[in-house]
Amino acid sequence: MALRYLALLLLACCVACLGVGVVIGQKAPAKDDKKDEKKEEAKEGAEKAEEKPMTKAEFDDLMNKEVKDAWNRLKINERKKMGERAAEAADIIAKAAPKMLRYDGKVLKGENKDKLAREQKDYKQWVDDLKKHAEDFAKHARKGDWDKAAASRDKINETCGACHDVYEPKD
Ligand code: HEC
Repeated sequence: MALRYLALLLLACCVACLGVGVVIGQKAPAKDDKKDEKKEEAKEGAEKAEEKPMTKAEFDDLMNKEVKDAWNRLKINERKKMGERAAEAADIIAKAAPKMLRYDGKVLKGENKDKLAREQKDYKQWVDDLKKHAEDFAKHARKGDWDKAAASRDKINETCGACHDVYEPKD
């Protein structure tokens, strides 16, 4: 008699364990799926934010607080021959450059007047140039190759000016 109860108990335990095992087994991947979904959503959100045009205030902030500030630090640290610091400032400019593709302003004059500036070939070229010259500067500054760094710095300066001459509203 007792043996029969023991056997039943054992069976009950096995069924219970199996049940829990199955539930856990099913729950675990379900949780991961949700995590992946969330990750996917976050990624999409970030990508969308990158494409989203900036307001005038956001763009001015980018120019003043990121680009101009870094540009000043680049020049100061180049003068002091502080390679790593000058290079870090250039890194910020290189990273900021593609964000300029979110500029929502218009072409000010010429045959493409009132079209979006960021869709113009020369605008996009200057964004690429700025990124490239800033990356070059960082590379040379890190090596302490100051002659080459100076040449890249001049090119950065020319690129800021070239784009502003055409696209910065004069008011
Ligand atoms: C691809 C084009 C482009 C490049 C390259 C560029 N800028 Fe600009 N920048 C603009 C435009 C467009 C404006 C005008 C924004 C407005 O007033 O709507 C501007 C405005 C500015 C302003 C004024 C922001 C304000 O508050 O009105 C500063 C400062 C500035 N840029 C700094 C720089 C520096 C420094 C560089 C180079 C390291 C640079 N920019 C490179 C397009 C560019």
